[in-house]
Amino acid sequence: MLADKKIVFSGVQPSGNLTIGNYLGAIKNFSRFSEDYKTFYCVVDLHAITVRQVPAELRRRTYETLALYMACGLDEKKNTLFVQSHVPAHAELGWILDCYTMFGELSRMTQFKDKSQKHAENINAGLFTYPALMAADILLYQTDVVPTGVDQKQHLELARDIAERFNQVYGDTFTVPESYIPTDTMKIMSLQEPTAKMSKSDPNDNAVVRILDSKDDIMRKFKKAVTDSEASVRFSEDKPGVSNLMTIYHAFTGKSFEDIEREFDGRGYGDFKMAVGEACADGLAPVREEFARLMADKAHLESVMKNGADEAAYYARKTMSKVRRKIGFVN
Ligand code: TRP
Repeated sequence: MLADKKIVFSGVQPSGNLTIGNYLGAIKNFSRFSEDYKTFYCVVDLHAITVRQVPAELRRRTYETLALYMACGLDEKKNTLFVQSHVPAHAELGWILDCYTMFGELSRMTQFKDKSQKHAENINAGLFTYPALMAADILLYQTDVVPTGVDQKQHLELARDIAERFNQVYGDTFTVPESYIPTDTMKIMSLQEPTAKMSKSDPNDNAVVRILDSKDDIMRKFKKAVTDSEASVRFSEDKPGVSNLMTIYHAFTGKSFEDIEREFDGRGYGDFKMAVGEACADGLAPVREEFARLMADKAHLESVMKNGADEAAYYARKTMSKVRRKIGFVN
């Protein structure tokens, strides 16, 4: 029975081409919930417009993000895949939760601080209230578990606080969600500046490996990856470049760090980088092929979006009628 299953929700922004960090840190884990949970995976286009977007690109990337979900193993029959703006209740609950989220809380969000530095010419109100909209996404479905990258941890904690605050005022209304941040997929760092997170918007393209990069591009980027002068493959805090490559190799091959150290004992970084590149390119090849197949059939993607939105709206309606009643809106 659906109603007995716990609920999983996560979202990915259709802004920029996703990286292996997004893949290993979040999307790859989504499919592990498909069997035992009721899962909602959303393309969050409302969040994307907190920074300026080119309309045609936003539209294309919305299709692409949906196709990518599917190419990463999310079967549309086992998961509710949809676009955020197709279910207006997200915006509606977002506004309501704005009124239960404190200025001080939003001011402390590190993503807001980062993004307002990066987009100093466009520090808009949406950028500031972004976490309240994210809380709405999650709480709308009475979500139990939110799988996501570690960078979203602070936003998730705020979503929990908002849920608890609302429940305290109005009685039990929202499920308080747990985050699921797998410890076996560590943070993937930039290949050029391995003390910084790999970011899809990094202006230096060599720093970023994207899920849809060609094998040639992947090999070239790993060949150029920053290491150190020690020439020894060893996991250590003072060797961020090599450690990051080991993390990526581990993620794609399942080999332990000890095994990796043994495998490359006495061999140069050249060999090691090529092996990481091969493992990464081979691991991504099926995703890339499936993505190309899906993108060739827009009509199918549109029907997936439509069915997903209908299903999501059904669940959203239930929460919204409860919320409206509790707040005191006339029915
Ligand atoms: N803020 C998330 C990110 O940038 C995307 C997101 C929006 C999200 N709503 C969500 C993630 C709800 C998890 C749950 O990656």
